[in-house]
Amino acid sequence: MNDRPPVIAPSILSADFSALGEACRATVDAGGDWVHVDCMDGHFVPAITFGPATCTSLRPHIATVMDVHLMIAPVNPYLQDFATAGADFITIHVEAGPHIHRALQAISEAGCKAGVALNPGTPAQTVAHLLDLVNLVCVMTVNPGAGGQSFLHSQLEKIAVIREMIADRPIHLQVDGGINEETAVLASQAGADVFVAGSSLFSGGLRELPGRISGLRRAATQSQ
Ligand code: DX5
Ligand code: ZN
Repeated sequence: MNDRPPVIAPSILSADFSALGEACRATVDAGGDWVHVDCMDGHFVPAITFGPATCTSLRPHIATVMDVHLMIAPVNPYLQDFATAGADFITIHVEAGPHIHRALQAISEAGCKAGVALNPGTPAQTVAHLLDLVNLVCVMTVNPGAGGQSFLHSQLEKIAVIREMIADRPIHLQVDGGINEETAVLASQAGADVFVAGSSLFSGGLRELPGRISGLRRAATQSQ
């Protein structure tokens, strides 16, 4: 049972990169709660996408929460730049360096909400001593680095374990990767409350976005 209202966070990784501002505005107009921005460095993950300058340019087109997911290593030297770019949430990977605790503190000190993400092979216990420092835990339900992959059902147990660990704390539990109307039901039943989705929302173009976002919200609410 999951009684937290679902947050839908469309990922512009699956939007048309030649018109990202328009994609952000369409996402908000279509009812997306947050806009998820996937930043990749060609090192922590093979692909290269957006940096702080892109986030600065997109900020005026996001009249809601800018949810920045950093798939970069090292991460500490860039946190202030992403905060200055206007990120609301900055999520970093526990696998991205030896000083996750310090990096999470730096995100809060920069005035942003702090998130910690776990790759599929990383156990739930890794976040046990970080919960007092975070506003969000992100369970990657694919290997980070690309959109359009299949949801890893092996992560459902981890979601449920982290839900228990979070208990009554005001911490979001986000799922990212392979989320569609079928997998959102499973992730919600396991305890997730923030649903990142790229290809399942954007593959029909911006005109289909409102219907697809409502469909995902319905699915995510189904287990309540
Ligand atoms: C993957 C990214 C995701 C990606 C999800 O590394 O973190 O946010 O956009 O894409 P889909 O929903 O297509 O799996
Ligand atoms: Zn992401």
